[in-house]
Amino acid sequence: MANQEDKFKKVVSHAKEYGYVFQSSEIYDGLSAVYDYAQNGVELKKNIRDYWWKAMVQMHDNIVGLDAAIFMHPTTWKASGHVDAFSDPLIDNKDSKKRYRADVLIEDYVGKLDAKIEKEVKKAAKRFGDSFDKAQFLETNPRVLGYKEKGDAILQRMGQSLEKEDLADVKALIEELGIGCPLSGSKNWTDVKQFNLMFGTKLGASADTAMDLYLRPETAQGIFVNFLNVQKSGRMKIPFGIAQTGKAFRNEIVARQFIFRMREFEQMEMQFFVRPGTQKEWYEQWKETRLKWHLSLGMGEDNYRFHDHDKLAHYADAAADIEFKFPFGFKELEGIHSRTDFDLKAHEEHSGKKLQYFDPEINERYIPYVVETSIGLDRMFLAVFSNSLQEEELENGTTRTVLKLPAVLAPTKAAILPLVKKDGLPEVAKKIVEDLKWDFNVAYDEKDAVGRRYRRQDAAGTPYCITVDHDTLNDDSVTIRHRDTMEQQRVKISELKALIKEEVDVKNWLMKM
Ligand code: GAP
Repeated sequence: MANQEDKFKKVVSHAKEYGYVFQSSEIYDGLSAVYDYAQNGVELKKNIRDYWWKAMVQMHDNIVGLDAAIFMHPTTWKASGHVDAFSDPLIDNKDSKKRYRADVLIEDYVGKLDAKIEKEVKKAAKRFGDSFDKAQFLETNPRVLGYKEKGDAILQRMGQSLEKEDLADVKALIEELGIGCPLSGSKNWTDVKQFNLMFGTKLGASADTAMDLYLRPETAQGIFVNFLNVQKSGRMKIPFGIAQTGKAFRNEIVARQFIFRMREFEQMEMQFFVRPGTQKEWYEQWKETRLKWHLSLGMGEDNYRFHDHDKLAHYADAAADIEFKFPFGFKELEGIHSRTDFDLKAHEEHSGKKLQYFDPEINERYIPYVVETSIGLDRMFLAVFSNSLQEEELENGTTRTVLKLPAVLAPTKAAILPLVKKDGLPEVAKKIVEDLKWDFNVAYDEKDAVGRRYRRQDAAGTPYCITVDHDTLNDDSVTIRHRDTMEQQRVKISELKALIKEEVDVKNWLMKM
């Protein structure tokens, strides 16, 4: 655990030190769960977005893009169910005046039982040595079984109470378990209340005519309300998809873990409209396609797993998460949801406008079913960034910090380094920069010894360093150093462009899908 926490702290501080992510409004001590992307972060984020867009829109002749506004007519959110059902159960501590998510307090309590199980396992492993059989121990040890049974029963009761909206029982559970305020220990709790996560704002200048609006909590609704416009103007035939990337806003109560859970974040969503009755097949197909997209980045098959939902959102008939192994454990990275005809039907009812499709193949008119893929861009950023940050022991006994970003996503593809700041080497290096910058983001660096410059670029995530030395003046060749292997290769300046292109070309990466 301490190790995980250390690793995560390093991720956060490295992101700041190397110009990836800053706390928003830092000079005013920051704004909780809001972050800014700095010079390198903005490039990495853009490259992830492009990688998604190419795979989803450009490579599918039946998926088109959309850029809907953040502000939408307020009835949108009544129809989508967000006004009534997009909320978290909250509880306040009367003494510390701190507010918590009631379900998180209970889950944290169960997490402590899990930690006790881990402790028992460690003790037993020490006691039994090589003969220790962990699986058997977990299945038979009475103390472990007791903790497990207790944890399962608590979660089951909480799940049922939340499902039934029995918030009094959620409070009773907190009290029965003796859960105190994590900050003060006080057990003096208010009742549990539902708290809507949408941010409200106003449209219009005068107080009496202003209209109450919400900042969208998901981008998906912009797609639903435009479904027929896109279908007609694009003459789309079912099955087809509409994809969109953009900001979403949620007044998250437990906003922690850096950019994992933010109040302002960006989503990359695609709604795939299908004939009713075929949604199950498309759901399975999109689960598979999206996992392949992740795997194409080469961040390790073992770092991903599916989690099928037992408790479904108000709009879904099936749902699964693609979970990723973040520094704090496996957590949701992307959701794939079979949303039925819930949204289009609700918009039809609330707007009084038909949102139906005439299917010429079966001569029928219907409201399409929808399979959605929804991934948080910031969360994907965190997955890529945290997985790439590594400390390596080198053969000479030193360590290096290296950010092994997939080359296709790296903000800067190559750094051009004159070996010394004289003898005409900077001029040659700058000429290479001028030539390569038409095709790639490249950097020029002449400060410090070349070894230090390599380390700096390793830590910033630049996959290639190109060094211009005295021999370059005679043979028009440079040394290219590969970030991950630290191997060096002598190549002609005229070959550089093709060599880098081969390594960073989106096509070559997506072809691995
Ligand atoms: N349209 C469906 C939808 O919004 P969701 O599971 O609530 O579903 C989809 O969100 C994805 O958006 C999540 O898998 C996650 O990657 C990202 N996401 C959700 N809330 C977030 C937050 N507060 N901060 C960062 N990313 C978030």
